[in-house]
Amino acid sequence: MKLFLDTANIEEIREISAWGVLGGITTNPSLIYKETPKDWIAHAKEICSIVDGPVSLETTKVKTKDLIKEGHDLAEVAPNVVVKIVMTPEGLGAAKALSEEGIKVNVTLVFSPSQAILAAEAGAYIVSPFLGRVDDISSDGISVLADICAIYDAQAYQTLVLAASLRHPMHVVDAARLGAEIASMPCKVFRQLVDHPLTASGIESFNSDWKALQKTMNKETVKKGKGR
Ligand code: E4P
Repeated sequence: MKLFLDTANIEEIREISAWGVLGGITTNPSLIYKETPKDWIAHAKEICSIVDGPVSLETTKVKTKDLIKEGHDLAEVAPNVVVKIVMTPEGLGAAKALSEEGIKVNVTLVFSPSQAILAAEAGAYIVSPFLGRVDDISSDGISVLADICAIYDAQAYQTLVLAASLRHPMHVVDAARLGAEIASMPCKVFRQLVDHPLTASGIESFNSDWKALQKTMNKETVKKGKGR
């Protein structure tokens, strides 16, 4: 499973990119708004140049023909752009047209297996079911993802399942267990993946024992020096 960062923040992208495990980026209009770039296309270009993997840039138009035009413009930003389109009838029309032209599309704001079937039939490269937002309304995001993964397996759909709107490390672990091809998470969750209290306490005791050993070795060296 590829690990994506869900952000438009350049520092966060550079930080996680340095770990060597960053598979790509997802953005959306709210994440771009948080960064308030003067020129968002220049900002998007910078993101695409840092990341060696797909970068989803979201369309904002409503009508199919406008979405197709916007999709063409976004696809020009960089070779690794994936055009993100929301799950609507107009969006599906645009997803189908762009996919047929060979432009990669991520169908987003997906909350049900029926929507995921539509995305695959439209030829989307990626489908993005939102787990956390389903959990937020007291429903079960993981069971929605499980259904989508099972259906995609049964139908041998080529569309990649991207588990989105992840809130904590167990969402990531469950997504991997269910066979999602991609998990996209905020920087906070990425950092939580690496943390474990036993790793922290293990490092502390290894370091203190190593320092104690250095002191012992220094004493031995001094003793030997005096004996000469
Ligand atoms: C994914 O593509 C979306 O940008 C993202 O996962 C939304 O997450 P949120 O529900 O935390 O806003």
